Amino acid sequence: MTIDDDGGGRAGAPGTGTAINWDALTHAARAALVHAYVPYSKYPVGAAALVDDGRLISGANVENASYGLTLCAECSMVSALHMGGGGRITAFTCVDGDGNILMPCGRCRQLLYEHRAPGMQLLTVSGIKSMQEVLPDAFGPQDLEQP
Ligand code: THU
Repeated sequence: MTIDDDGGGRAGAPGTGTAINWDALTHAARAALVHAYVPYSKYPVGAAALVDDGRLISGANVENASYGLTLCAECSMVSALHMGGGGRITAFTCVDGDGNILMPCGRCRQLLYEHRAPGMQLLTVSGIKSMQEVLPDAFGPQDLEQP
């Protein structure tokens, strides 16, 4: 295991000593909604995260006529993470088209797991959670390490 999950419940952004501004993060997720491409579901999703270098990244869902190819908002956000220089996510939230907090789907919890910083927190429908709480005992890069 190369990345520790030391859980949520901290007052500050993991490793920074600074409080997470959840209002600003939620605002960024709502702002991302305008970029959603959702001709099929008409269900826009906006996602936003803080990166361990202080960047704020966001994304929106991008659907496809071949429905199964739809990219969730978290997918475009993770692409933005890498296109913007990489790093690890310290805090995350996403919202639906009404701006209400949305629970990330199972696939996207796995995406977030891969790119999390130790102690990453998620603002969810049931409050601030740790990665371990939303994806217990996750499969991850550690499982692919050679013995
Ligand atoms: N969706 C996301 O973007 N993220 C999630 O975590 C849940 C679902 C999108 C995919 C699709 O475009 C729409 O919501 C309806 O499923």
